[in-house]
Amino acid sequence: MARVLTGIQSSGRPHMGNILGAIIPAIQLAKDNQEESFIFIADFHSLTSSKDAELRKENTLAVAAAWLAFGLDIEKTVFFRQSRRPEVAELNWYLNCFTPFPMLANAHSFKDKSEKLADVNAGLFTYPVLMASDILLYSADLVPVGKDQMQHLEMTRDIASTFNRIMEEDILTIPEARISESVKTIPGTDGQKMSKSYNNYIDIFLPEKQLKKNVNTIVTDSTPLEEPKDPDTCNVFKLYSLLASEEQIQGMRAKYLGGNYGYGHAKKEFMELILEKFSEERKAFDYYMSHPEEIEKKLAEGEEKAKSIAEQMLQRVREKLGFR
Ligand code: ADP
Ligand code: TRP
Repeated sequence: MARVLTGIQSSGRPHMGNILGAIIPAIQLAKDNQEESFIFIADFHSLTSSKDAELRKENTLAVAAAWLAFGLDIEKTVFFRQSRRPEVAELNWYLNCFTPFPMLANAHSFKDKSEKLADVNAGLFTYPVLMASDILLYSADLVPVGKDQMQHLEMTRDIASTFNRIMEEDILTIPEARISESVKTIPGTDGQKMSKSYNNYIDIFLPEKQLKKNVNTIVTDSTPLEEPKDPDTCNVFKLYSLLASEEQIQGMRAKYLGGNYGYGHAKKEFMELILEKFSEERKAFDYYMSHPEEIEKKLAEGEEKAKSIAEQMLQRVREKLGFR
């Protein structure tokens, strides 16, 4: 069986897009896999966009709590913080020296981010090499990611092949991306891709009152209450459909088409569905957030397991490069 590995940056609290698009599918893949999977919190990567230490700690906890709340099994998964295995930073340096400059200069995500962000630092530029190091340090075979990460996976494959070719030995495993086609891009409250950076996300872990406010920010048109409405162009209906059963979807569709059903009603139903559907996960998330020592313990276990694998790989690379 293949070794599965994936990571999520700790640049914010995980939202509905991260959960449906990344966390649930990765947990499923890990469950179906005989071999141990590697799931980590990419906290080094979050430094490219945020310099706030307290916020990083808080977000790292929240990302860990979300994985655990959705049922990540730490018996079958090596669950760790990227920064607690600093071997990755050493491999990152070596791989930087095997990465052609134009390859990084052509990365879509760098181009996008450098247009939007005020702080265009070198870390943002070499971000894909650190990501390659995450993957190659642990000899991952399969990497489940969203479509937006596809190019980073291609770069990882290129970097690994270049390294193996120059070193005349297949030291690094060439990984494959696992893009889940069945998981579409989850739309945000404004209809664009849901993302922390667009501030258009639904945070399913918020306390009820704040969740209500959050759901109320979903953008709708101004069709009067009495008139029939088009479910297929409505953001509330789209988000509701992602969580609802077929029967519930048809029920809401009929109400939209029938008139005398307002967007406020639909938002209320969507919120109730979140509360019902994720009731266990919300409780578990709150539990972990108020017991950070338990999260710490689980992560420390994973960090210990990751250690010997990381050290072995690094040892081989050092020898190959004449650092031993
Ligand atoms: P964000 O855009 O909020 O910063 P990240 O880039 O940190 O999200 O993504 C973390 C993971 O969640 C990635 O695997 C990404 O593909 C997935 N993901 C993020 N947003 C969405 C979305 N709107 N729909 C589906 N998957 C998403
Ligand atoms: N770049 C990924 C994202 O923004 C996060 C990430 C970092 C990652 N290192 C990784 C994902 C290694 C998979 C494998 O979503």
